[in-house]
Amino acid sequence: MTFELRMRAYRFLKLFMKPVVKLVPQPRPVVFVGPDSALRLCRMIGEFGFRRVLIVTDAMLVKLGLVAPLRHALVSQGLDVAVFDAILPDPTYPVVRQGHEAAVAHGSDAILAVGGGSSIDAAKVIAAMVTSGKAPEKLLGFFRLTKPMLPLFVVPTTAGTGSEVTVAAVLTDPVRHEKAAVVDPRIVPAAAALDAKLMQGMPPHITAATGMDALTHAVEAHLNVWPNAETAFHAVSTVRLVFANLPRAYANGADLEAREAMAIAAFFGGLAFTKAYVGYVHAFSHKIGGTYGVPHGLGNAITLPYVLDFIKDAPYAEARLAELAVAIGAGRADEPHAILAQRFVDRVRTLNREIGIPEKITQLHGDDIPAIARAAMIEANRDYPVPKRMKLNEAELLLRRMTVVA
Ligand SMILES: NC(=O)c1ccc[n+]([C@@H]2O[C@H](COP(=O)([O-])OP(=O)(O)OC[C@H]3O[C@@H](n4cnc5c(N)ncnc54)[C@H](O)[C@@H]3O)[C@@H](O)[C@H]2O)c1
Ligand SMILES: [Fe+2]
Repeated sequence: MTFELRMRAYRFLKLFMKPVVKLVPQPRPVVFVGPDSALRLCRMIGEFGFRRVLIVTDAMLVKLGLVAPLRHALVSQGLDVAVFDAILPDPTYPVVRQGHEAAVAHGSDAILAVGGGSSIDAAKVIAAMVTSGKAPEKLLGFFRLTKPMLPLFVVPTTAGTGSEVTVAAVLTDPVRHEKAAVVDPRIVPAAAALDAKLMQGMPPHITAATGMDALTHAVEAHLNVWPNAETAFHAVSTVRLVFANLPRAYANGADLEAREAMAIAAFFGGLAFTKAYVGYVHAFSHKIGGTYGVPHGLGNAITLPYVLDFIKDAPYAEARLAELAVAIGAGRADEPHAILAQRFVDRVRTLNREIGIPEKITQLHGDDIPAIARAAMIEANRDYPVPKRMKLNEAELLLRRMTVVA
């Protein structure tokens, strides 16, 4: 089958995906919000009756002292707590296998993830491996969990991925340098704490990149063609919150109000894209992240304006971008959509500059572009209800614009 025929087949099959996605339930975690809400969540884990908890986290967060108070809150209730702190950004199959061994050796009856999307995603897969007995590779794809996972509680320490509420967990194949996702309503955590105190020490560059991930989730979900009133509310709210609060959180990490608003933005962004999906930005960024190790949020932040430039004249997308421009105060609803849409794209570029996001992907190499474009088009056509068709040569051109030499 030629590449173009394959893309057409994917787009045709998507017509059948829409009703399925509508019917699939979207479980939601119980949410604790506010300073010290993570400690309240830990007390609740004891009250729920769990006795052996595995904390899944990364060594950096242990070093920064973010994990010790939570561990203490569990231990002081008489719980047996083990810590698995080997998570690195973009968790791989071997890492989650090790985490699974740690959970089995400990006899854990619940897992507490403390960290960014990497720790939360790894914990989701570890929790699913414990009950299903499946290898991580066997959980990739849609609806592969045959049983509920081990109860999972999460404390996000970044405000970006929304993994605390999504049906997805992203893993990286360390040999093929590819990212793939486990997608299943059964991997939504049981409860989450949005505790901005744990985010106050996040360095500005991580604040910027992760915050732009939340924005990208909302924008892509809002431009996609499977909208409903609830996803629209979550997407528009996320966009407003990010524009109002990300520059503040970037400039002053201790700004608790801005940090909390960003945590809520990330959560709402997660809700929006779990139903309405992401689009070309994520398709490109997954390949760029898998190939060069570019952090997920940074890849999205750089790619977002280029993709919006491509999409903005599609009538449906133009109207939605115009709506976002009005939502962030960049214009009036009675102005022409084309002008408003362009203004929104310009505002994204300005925001990127304000928070130190570069305009190009330095690692992106011309020789790799055909393979990245091809893989990204497969992901986008197969998985996402994007508002405008992108041809392979257009994808390559877009990537060339993002290289430093272009
Ligand atoms: N499951 C989903 O729905 C979903 C959605 C988007 C992205 N993802 C995945 O999530 C991963 C990225 O997660 P992320 O962007 O949250 O980053 P991350 O978890 O990879 O963390 C990035 C870095 O930030 C550090 N860090 C985290 N919190 C900190 C804090 N409070 N203070 C200081 N340092 C801190 C970490 O130690 C790490 O070095 C990628 O693998 C991506 O593909 C998942
Ligand atoms: Fe993302």
